Amino acid sequence: MGEAQQAVIDVRNLKVEFPGRRGTVTALSDVSLSIRPGEILGVVGESGAGKSMTGLAIQGLLERPGRIAAGEIWLGQRRIDALGDREMERIRGREIGAIFQDPLTSLNPLFTVGAQLTETIRQHLSLGRVEARARAVQLLRDVGIPSPEERVNHYPHQFSGGMRQRVVIALALAASPKLIIADEPTTALDVSIQAQIISLLRRLCKEKKTAVMLVTHDMGVIAEAADRVAVMYAGRLIEIGPVEDVLHAPRHPYTQGLMASIPSLGARVEKLNQIDGSMPRLDAIPMGCSFNPRCRSAGPRCMHERPELTAVANGASACWLNAGGTA
Ligand SMILES: Nc1ncnc2c1ncn2[C@@H]1O[C@H](COP(=O)(O)OP(=O)(O)OP(=O)(O)O)[C@@H](O)[C@H]1O
Ligand SMILES: [Mg+2]
Repeated sequence: MGEAQQAVIDVRNLKVEFPGRRGTVTALSDVSLSIRPGEILGVVGESGAGKSMTGLAIQGLLERPGRIAAGEIWLGQRRIDALGDREMERIRGREIGAIFQDPLTSLNPLFTVGAQLTETIRQHLSLGRVEARARAVQLLRDVGIPSPEERVNHYPHQFSGGMRQRVVIALALAASPKLIIADEPTTALDVSIQAQIISLLRRLCKEKKTAVMLVTHDMGVIAEAADRVAVMYAGRLIEIGPVEDVLHAPRHPYTQGLMASIPSLGARVEKLNQIDGSMPRLDAIPMGCSFNPRCRSAGPRCMHERPELTAVANGASACWLNAGGTA
């Protein structure tokens, strides 16, 4: 309970469903995670695992008919999973900032970055025009944009990709949110720029005590930026723990496969799905453990009984072999 009270965001047993003509697809099952102030939780897993869906559910941005079918989402002391659109709109930007892969999804090409920053600032904070403008310039300075007094009057297309993503970070931080959800924030950028953006994000969030959910395919980014790592597979969380443990002593056979697929630590890889076989489709998840068709350690129990996420050492893993069990 003590830990839950401290958390900025606390997701409990989240289930997301998409009702359709051919039945209901469960996109997320029993996802539980929490992030404390100033903590960066990396979220990894191959394409379709449910990483973005988790971020969208937290922000109240599930595409209809997608819906939260079970579980709870707490933002500090406030439960936010069943709020109306208006209330969620207020929370987005003010309490939850977002950074997406493509800076241009967050920026309007028709307005100067100053206009966009001031609008966001004034929408969420009770500041006058002049103060909001000053805050916009300061934010641009904070994210390392040279000559911010001039740059504030420029349009998004006048910035390079890396500088544009810095503007997006400034925009996400504009109202001092408690949580930032960054979904592949550097994937669209040059490799040489990626590390700078990640270290900027990390430094700012540590300074401002912002909790961060950082979705990425890049284990280099995880190693550099994350404090803890959550591993997702087929809509479930299958391992979570401190970054050193998950990278160097992974518990779950899937995580072990992920780590083994990285040529050497620190090397950047584009795709993680180098484990034999592929992740099951959401409408064809096998009985028992969803990883069982690809698991070299799978035993009879794994074929018909689903392992729950269970505490091991400083983290948790969903495998019958962990916590002294047998497969
Ligand atoms: N509108 C939708 N209706 C039904 N299923 C959906 C919908 N949107 C996404 N999904 C499914 O939800 C699952 C999770 O998708 P999600 O986008 O969260 O994956 P991801 O882990 O972010 O993958 P990537 O690394 O490719 O970004 C996928 O299997 C996807 O097909
Ligand atoms: Mg995604």
